[in-house]
Amino acid sequence: MTTAVIGTGGIGSVIARELASGGETLRLSSADNESARLLAGEIGRAAVAAADNRDALRGADAVVLALRFTVLKGVIDEIAGLLADKLVVVPSNPLGIDAQGHVSHLLPEGQSSGEVVAGWLPAGARLAMAFGTLSGDLFESASNRSPEPAVLFYATDGDRAGEEVERLIRTAGFEPVRVGGIEQSGRLEVGGDLHDLVVGSPEARSLIGRA
Ligand SMILES: NC(=O)c1ccc[n+]([C@@H]2O[C@H](COP(=O)([O-])OP(=O)(O)OC[C@H]3O[C@@H](n4cnc5c(N)ncnc54)[C@H](OP(=O)(O)O)[C@@H]3O)[C@@H](O)[C@H]2O)c1
Repeated sequence: MTTAVIGTGGIGSVIARELASGGETLRLSSADNESARLLAGEIGRAAVAAADNRDALRGADAVVLALRFTVLKGVIDEIAGLLADKLVVVPSNPLGIDAQGHVSHLLPEGQSSGEVVAGWLPAGARLAMAFGTLSGDLFESASNRSPEPAVLFYATDGDRAGEEVERLIRTAGFEPVRVGGIEQSGRLEVGGDLHDLVVGSPEARSLIGRA
């Protein structure tokens, strides 16, 4: 199947490499498309660099928006007309980084990026918050772990989106575990109790119940 990955920086490039190594076909785009072209060249036949963000969605079953929180809404608005009946996967944490490298939390305490993004999507798009719980390095090292696969937590409101994102998570070399609906997605984000954890499925399921 085909997935669009918009944003090919720190986390988007890792997600794209792991999805491609699991057999997914990819359409990539980035701000000026140079990093998307370089990544497509590195991945090889499984990936193409699209002409732009809208072109990345051509023929795609799902889209991963691997973007900083501050540019997410603009890109969603740009592609909104193409998102009906698509799975939209968002790994973004609600963080801003200033010119000096200082990191700040962009949302009031208690509000998650998932809840905000859900309000930005057009009707018919199916949102899953996923692929943002691990740093790029951890994501790469934990993918295809053996004998017990590592878990990637996700949150979504819909069963269909759940099935679709579980397929992508397995393709990337992880065991999917649902934390709950989008209202639970704060648990996956920076500062949440399930962020940056590399665990197997039994431990993951007991952690979910403990909140
Ligand atoms: N990095 C991690 O380890 C990690 C882990 C988990 C979650 N996250 C979350 O994932 C999100 C992305 O983080 P990151 O570290 O990957 O950021 P990043 O390295 O800055 O990459 C951002 C990507 O977005 C692209 N981009 C910017 N504006 C765009 C636009 N208008 N249209 C299309 N693409 C655009 C950039 O394009 P160019 O390449 O052309 O500049 C770049 O490829 C953040 O919200 C972060 O919290 C990151």
